[in-house]
Amino acid sequence: MNILLLGSGGREHALAWKLAQSSHCSALYIAPGNAGTTQCGTNVDLSPLDFEGIGKFCGREDIGMVVVGPEEPLVKGIVDFFQADAGLRQIPVIGPSASGARLEGSKAFSKKFMERHAIPTAVYREFDSDNFAEGIAYLQQHPLPVVLKADGLAAGKGVIICQSTIEAIAEFELMIQGSKFGEASSKVVVEEFLSGIELSIFVLSDGKHFLTLPEAKDYKRVGEGDKGPNTGGMGAVSPVPFADATFMDKVTQRIIIPTVKGLEEENIDYRGFIFIGVIKVGEDPFVIEYNCRLGDPETEVVMPRMKNDLVELFLAVAGQRLDGITIEPDERTCCTVVAVSGGYPGSYEKGLPISGLDQDTGADSLIFHAGTRGESNGILTSGGRVLCVSSFAETVYEAVDKSRDILEKIYYEGIYYRRDIGYEFL
Ligand code: AMP
Ligand code: GLY
Repeated sequence: MNILLLGSGGREHALAWKLAQSSHCSALYIAPGNAGTTQCGTNVDLSPLDFEGIGKFCGREDIGMVVVGPEEPLVKGIVDFFQADAGLRQIPVIGPSASGARLEGSKAFSKKFMERHAIPTAVYREFDSDNFAEGIAYLQQHPLPVVLKADGLAAGKGVIICQSTIEAIAEFELMIQGSKFGEASSKVVVEEFLSGIELSIFVLSDGKHFLTLPEAKDYKRVGEGDKGPNTGGMGAVSPVPFADATFMDKVTQRIIIPTVKGLEEENIDYRGFIFIGVIKVGEDPFVIEYNCRLGDPETEVVMPRMKNDLVELFLAVAGQRLDGITIEPDERTCCTVVAVSGGYPGSYEKGLPISGLDQDTGADSLIFHAGTRGESNGILTSGGRVLCVSSFAETVYEAVDKSRDILEKIYYEGIYYRRDIGYEFL
């Protein structure tokens, strides 16, 4: 079968690497991909948001399956676009329809969904220009810190944790009246701050059944010791030591089962990944957020840890046959360390030559590309997050050490990576 994968980050390189290993995959195309994905298939110069162009490409190249990496095409309805077209309808698209993608595309929707299905989450209220004054009054009596969330997609920047009431009111005004995040912040969710330790749970749903993939923990802050500004993610580890059987059973019973059942009850045909951002408060799990895709850089540790054939899983998703399958995890620890451009997450230079990519990584490590592009003169940086090095070992310490050894032999001007991924588990 010919497969088309949409996206261009480290997540997509890890997915491409995994898809290309399947006996069901005859040709893999990645749109638009990066310099790393060309090791797994053929890059196609198409935007994941160009639904017409993607549809035509699928017809021309006899594509039998489309796998969607990022959220935006899902929130904007790529699945609905395929279903509305008689020539494309029979091609399974891995990812939810726009109605399911609202779990990520609208924080207000996801909060109401959790309320309807009694899924544990922070207490909240939603506000827009119609009940703006009520929102101010709500903030004036809200305990601190308080969390403000833009309702819509805001490129990962739409959550603000405010330490004072004055800051909260100023941000609230900026979001709703000042369109801080454009249309995405015309509605704002104000919620209680939960204090605990976070992890990322990945569920694959076929609309009726589900499988839980290996869990992961990502490291969002740019600086060591979790200091400094938020980024797209500086590293990840899997498995997560505190996610023991007792805790994961609570996650399954209180969160995953009611989520999958709730979607089915609401007639949302959800065939794709559900990424549940969970926080452990005391001994109990609460949902921080839903995403309608896999996480990045979590995918760079989750895919290597899965022994299953990914295309077989996706065929079972399309045929609603996930109940006959079990996930076979590699029991070792996998850690990924992300190398970023100097200055990231602020402004940074692109187009810098990268050396050291052709080294022998050994059997236990993998170099996944994120913001890279191939030119006639070599591979150049082309984004904030440039590369992820994932390594297997028996312990977090050894795995991070292996990735660091490889990164020490990679160079581009300004290269930076955290040396303490997984530090709290050492
Ligand atoms: P998001 O953009 O939804 O991933 O949120 C960004 C980050 O904000 C999360 O990963 C959490 O660390 C934090 N966060 C979001 N909601 C809450 C909350 N209710 N309590 C504490 N931290 C939160
Ligand atoms: N690593 C978090 C995310 O992908 O949103």
